[in-house]
Amino acid sequence: MNKEFFKFDFKVYDSIDELDEEDVYLLAEARKVSEVAYAPYSNFKVGAFAKLVNGKTVSGTNQENAAYPAGICAERTLMSTASSLFPGVGIATIAISYKNGNGKSDRPVSPCGICRQSFAEFQQRTKNPIRIILSGMEGKVYVIENAENLLPLLFGADDMK
Ligand code: THU
Repeated sequence: MNKEFFKFDFKVYDSIDELDEEDVYLLAEARKVSEVAYAPYSNFKVGAFAKLVNGKTVSGTNQENAAYPAGICAERTLMSTASSLFPGVGIATIAISYKNGNGKSDRPVSPCGICRQSFAEFQQRTKNPIRIILSGMEGKVYVIENAENLLPLLFGADDMK
């Protein structure tokens, strides 16, 4: 029997003020875009804003539906947009923020499991690691260098070869 470990490091900043200029821009835009999310059921508005490897930027917000499972997260809205406008182009960095209409928005929240799976496929097919910036409307900021860190032992296309 062998024990295996999975661990990864990520950076924790006290606030947006500690980030470099480009990351400030991406996070500020993610915070801004969360305002236009369509989330009348959860009241939890999520905004994502990314810089692609080709230098272009794209945004995404969560889009809910009266039939709840039909809703889509901000991250996957962004990936669909990026992939539709710029097929095959990697995401360099994505900033994700949120505005919680039911409470505070002062700490980073992490992408859901489906989005983690989608990030993994996106970065595998574009052959480019996705850097993730997480923060609420204020407060601490997490920076994760590779989206795959969020999904240990992931299932991917290679497993079906
Ligand atoms: N949501 C996102 O858009 N991204 C996340 O990372 C977590 C959750 C959305 C889905 C749903 O519309 C609302 O937030 C509450 O779960």
